[in-house]
Amino acid sequence: MAKLKNDLFLRACKRLPVERTPIWIMRQAGRYLPEYRAVREKYDFLTMCKTPQVAAEVTIQPIDILGVDAAILFSDILVIPEAMGMYLEMHEGKGPVFNNPIRAESDFNNLIDFDPTDKLKYVLDAITITKKNLDNRVPLIGFSGSPWTLLCYMVEGKGSKDFALVKKMIYTQPDLAHKILDKLSDVIAKYLSAKIEYGCNAVQIFDTWGGILSQQDFLEFDLIYIQKIIQSIKRKDEPVIVFAKGVHHNIDKIVESGADVIGLDWTMNISEVRKNLSDKVALQGNLDPTVLFADELKIRTEVKRILESYGYGSGHIFNLGHGILPNVSPENAKTLVRIVKEESKIFHHRDTEAQRS
Ligand code: CP3
Repeated sequence: MAKLKNDLFLRACKRLPVERTPIWIMRQAGRYLPEYRAVREKYDFLTMCKTPQVAAEVTIQPIDILGVDAAILFSDILVIPEAMGMYLEMHEGKGPVFNNPIRAESDFNNLIDFDPTDKLKYVLDAITITKKNLDNRVPLIGFSGSPWTLLCYMVEGKGSKDFALVKKMIYTQPDLAHKILDKLSDVIAKYLSAKIEYGCNAVQIFDTWGGILSQQDFLEFDLIYIQKIIQSIKRKDEPVIVFAKGVHHNIDKIVESGADVIGLDWTMNISEVRKNLSDKVALQGNLDPTVLFADELKIRTEVKRILESYGYGSGHIFNLGHGILPNVSPENAKTLVRIVKEESKIFHHRDTEAQRS
């Protein structure tokens, strides 16, 4: 495979020396970009996901517009339940809806067994086109939801404030919950392996709803399946990033899952996490996404605070602590990327000097 022109992101994932801290932004291909909205006007969301040429186009937009150090393949975590036969609708302003949620054993039995390399071939085709059009400028990240986060949507049928239905399932039908989670883990491991085989340079597991579980339940219904996936992904040295939002109590346990990089939300203290984990993994994050509503001065102050908090040396990938919000100005996103590039060099002098000598 040809050499990447910018491999800062991959080097930081492996905690190898870098000249500056790399940055990408969760949900960087999205509605805050007028260029995305122009494409979105022509197609509904799922058609965009299922049309490789279009998915590749919006994947590359933030590379050209913002200058981020990695691309993330445009898709959605919910294409997996959709491929299992759950009818998915994206409601404007309301988010995703499944009108046939999984609540009982019989619903589980209706889920279709599928091979991701066949039924989700459109995702793999989007990778092929994206890789070609990226021309090795930056690495490409592939992603999946965690089994637990997918279960949340599959049982609730939509987003929720308290996730009472899925939590009711783990307390009243734990065997059923485990059966679904296990099935999802197998599919996700195959799916992420295929993404790597088709050219993704890293993969991220989004565990958006890990933080709604108690410390114990997180281990039993969530992390164990993430661990199973990481153990079965077929990869050479492609890093695995785990972003589990709101799971303060279990960050050290996530390290044991085999993740190479841990994504932190903005409520975590990156310096403390680094110290507690003794540099065993790289860290990604963790600017509060709403800082992007502030002016340049404030954005700079907050960026410097995070860079200083992480401190010297490699192993930090700058990102937001969750996805970029749709009403953020693209100018502010550009400003963020520029500031991280400007301000982070001084935290790597020692690394690059050590490498030279
Ligand atoms: O990061 C990227 O740029 C890649 C694209 C990406 C999307 N969804 C596109 C999308 C990624 C990584 C996701 C992941 C995803 N999808 C998650 C986990 C990450 C997170 O933010 O917590 C979740 C929970 C979903 C499920 C989902 N998809 C929701 C809740 C919504 C509605 C909320 C929203 O932002 O509109 C979606 C729709 C969605 N996924 C959009 C995009 C660009 C907006 C759809 C549109 O254009 O109308």
